[in-house]
Amino acid sequence: MDFKNKAFLAPMAGDTDIPMRRLCRSLGADGAVTEMVSARAVCYGDVKTGALASVGEGEVTAVQLFGHEPEVVARAADMILSGKLSGASFLSPVAAIDINMGCPVKKIVTSGDGSALMRDEKTASAIVRETAKITREYGVPLTVKIRAGWDAEHINAPEFAYALAEAGADAVTVHARTREQMYRPFAAPEVIRRVKEAIPEVPVVGNGDVTCAEGAFELMRSTGCDGVMIGREALGNPWVFEEIKCVREGRPFTPPSGRERVTTALALIRGVIELKGEYVGVREARGRAAHFIKGMRGAPEVRDRINHAETYTEIEKIMTGLFAREV
Ligand SMILES: Cc1cc2nc3c(=O)[nH]c(=O)nc-3n(C[C@H](O)[C@H](O)[C@H](O)COP(=O)(O)O)c2cc1C
Repeated sequence: MDFKNKAFLAPMAGDTDIPMRRLCRSLGADGAVTEMVSARAVCYGDVKTGALASVGEGEVTAVQLFGHEPEVVARAADMILSGKLSGASFLSPVAAIDINMGCPVKKIVTSGDGSALMRDEKTASAIVRETAKITREYGVPLTVKIRAGWDAEHINAPEFAYALAEAGADAVTVHARTREQMYRPFAAPEVIRRVKEAIPEVPVVGNGDVTCAEGAFELMRSTGCDGVMIGREALGNPWVFEEIKCVREGRPFTPPSGRERVTTALALIRGVIELKGEYVGVREARGRAAHFIKGMRGAPEVRDRINHAETYTEIEKIMTGLFAREV
C-alpha cells in the first residue's frame, strides 16, 4: 500500500460502512478503514462483528481491530486475513490490518483498549510485534492509529510511534489530539511533524480537522506527513476526495450542485438499506442525510421531516423537495 500524497477516509463507528467507503472510493479516496471491531469478538466468532469487518467489492480498505491482549489481536488478524470469520465476507482483499490505539471512549479505555495503550508502550509494542508476525505471513501491511498522547502533559506520540515502528508497524496514522481533548477543536498538527521526524522511514498519515484540499496539502507540507486521513468532513462532503484528486492532477474542481448532493445522499441511503434492511437503514439515514444537506436552504425543516420518516420512499420525497428549491 502506497501512502505518499494519498488521502484516506478515516474510520468512524456507525458511519464508515461499505456503502460509505465505496462512495468515497468512487470520488477519489485512496483507501479507507472499517470502523473498529473487537479482536475478542472476532475470536469468539461473533457474527455481527463479522459483518462490521466485511469488505465489499471494489474497496481498498483496512480492517481496524481494538484489543489489549497481543495474542488475541494477532489471532483476530489471522482469522480476518484467512477469511475464516463467521458473518464476514471479503469481496476485495483486506488492504491492511489497522490497530486502534486512539479511541478515547471511556468504556474502551477502562478495558485497556484504544488510547489507553498510549500509556502502556510495552503492551502496545507486544500487540504490534505479535500481529506483525501474522500480517507478514499474508504479505499485508500492519498499520496503527494513535493520538498525540493522553493529555497535554503526556504528548508521547513521537516516542510511541518509534516503539511501534521498531515492533513492526508498517505505517502510523496520527490524530493530532490528546485523549483528553476527545474531538474538541483544535487539532495541533505540530505533533505529526515530530512523529515523522521520529520515524522518517515509516509512512505517517496525518489526521485531524482536514476539511478541504488546501488543508490536506498544507498538512503534508507543514508536517512532512506522507498522506492524510479525513473523517467528519467526509460524512457530508465526500467530494473532498475528488477535490484533492483534482488538485493532485492539476484539474479544476467543480463542487457538487444541490441536486448532486441530494442524489448522492439518496444513493448512499439505498446502499445502507440494502446492507442493513429498511428498518435500520431508514433510522441510520436520518443522520446520514443531515450531513449532506447541511447549509442548504430549507435543510432544518427537511431534517425534522426525515426524522419522522419510516420508509425510503418518504425520505426520497422529502429530500428531492430540497433541490427543487435550489434551481
Ligand atoms: C463518530 C465517530 C466515530 C469514530 N470511530 C472511530 C473508530 O472506530 N476508529 C478510529 O480509529 N477512530 C474513530 N474515530 C476518529 C476518526 O477516525 C478521526 O480520527 C477523528 O474524527 C479526527 O479526524 P477528523 O477531524 O477528520 O474528523 C471516530 C470519530 C467519530 C467522529
